[in-house]
This record gives sequence, structure tokens and C-alpha cells, in this order.
Amino acid sequence: MTGPQGEPVFLHLGPPPEEPGQFVVEGAPESYPPDVKARLEVDAKEIIGRYPNGRSALLPLLHLVQSEDSYLTPAGLEFCGEQLGLTGAEVAAVASFYTMYRRGPTGDYLVGVCTNTLCAVMGGDAIFESLKEHLGIDNDQTTEDGKVTLQHVECNAACDYAPVVMVNWEFFDNQTPDSARELVDGLRSGKPPRPTRGAELCPFRQTERILAGFPDQRPDDGQGGAGAATLAGLRVAQERDMQAPPTGDGE
Ligand code: FES
Repeated sequence: MTGPQGEPVFLHLGPPPEEPGQFVVEGAPESYPPDVKARLEVDAKEIIGRYPNGRSALLPLLHLVQSEDSYLTPAGLEFCGEQLGLTGAEVAAVASFYTMYRRGPTGDYLVGVCTNTLCAVMGGDAIFESLKEHLGIDNDQTTEDGKVTLQHVECNAACDYAPVVMVNWEFFDNQTPDSARELVDGLRSGKPPRPTRGAELCPFRQTERILAGFPDQRPDDGQGGAGAATLAGLRVAQERDMQAPPTGDGE
């Protein structure tokens, strides 16, 4: 490319130099041993069989290999491509788009602190700073005991319970710096607290297997679903006999 005077202009393509490597972590496996590959192939076949078009299985397959390695490794990406007949570039393009796919080793518990607008103003930023100091780690780092990976996350669609912390994608609502510190202490001591909503916690790799579509064996006693804060608007609308305005097509 040339500039206004015809001089050559260097365009740096790809990620900025300061951005963490794209799925490149020192020591990450480049391929799976035959026994691991054979085991994963059985699972992959089951997953792919659920879809009319095999390549639609890429997202759950990425969770499957993440359940093996705790993050996406060259071995995992290559495995997904092989199973679906996709190129490495096609797999990486999808994997790098979604933030639930991890680019570095993950501890038993992925603790995500929402620092998006509403949670931030309600105390999310303070919680995140407090946890960084308490755990002695920064964003996207893991404690030395391998128990907790800390990450700031964007809105988890639970703004009515702000500030929200998620552990392995289960909700801990209305947190404070004190309650969040207690939470991570419980995780590290082997006594994971019960989420405010949703099923009891299981380790990250097991969570990933559930996200790949394998059965969730955790007891379901109806603890999920909408809570009082979510239903507040509906309650007010019912009390005031409010109706949605008619749509233009007369329905
Ligand atoms: S802003 Fe935190 S859940 Fe929406």
C-alpha cells in the first residue's frame, strides 16, 4: 500500500503485538496420544451425530476438547478440524470469536466478575480489584494451587442481580467485595458455596463436558429460573393491568 505521496506504508496485519498469543501457550499439546484421541473420537461421533450438517457441531466439539485440556490447545483445534473436515483457519476463526473458549490453562473454578456498565457502577469494579488483591493474581491468571482463574467478564444478562459473579457459569448474585472474597476462599478450601441460582458447582472441565452436550448429573431441584428481581416488572404490569400496545399488523 502507498501513502498520499506514493511512499510505501507498512500495514501490520493480525493481532496487536501486546495481545496474548492466539491459542499459543508454551507447553500446550500439539497432538493427542492415541488413547486420548480414540476416547475423544467416541464422544465426537456422538456429538456430530446430533446435527444434520456435521460442521454445526463445531461449538460443542470445542467445549469437548476444552474439557480435556481446560483450554483450547493446538491439539484440540486440530482434533476438531479433523473430525469435521474443516481447516485450521476455519476452526480458529470460530474459536477466537467466542469468549467462552479459553486461550490459556484454566483452574478448577473460573471466576468471572462482571465489570460491564451496570455491574461496574453497582460495585463490580470494586469486587474485581478486591479479588485481584486477595488472590494475588491479575486478570486471566490462575492461583498457584490451580483452583481459581480470575477473569473480568462482560454482561451475563443478569443485570437485575448486579453486581454478579459467575463461577463456572453459575450465578452468584448481588455480590460485595466481602462476599466475593468469601466465595473464592470457599472454592480454594474445597468447600464450594452453593450458587444463588442454578445447580451446585462442579469443576471447570466437568462443566465443559456438560456444555459439550453430555448429561448434567447434578440434582435439579428447581433452583434455576427467574427470581423476584427479574419478575418485578411483570408483577407491576399485572397489578396495573398493563397491556402491550397492539402491533401494526392488527395482532
Ligand atoms: S452488567 Fe453485569 S450482568 Fe449485565
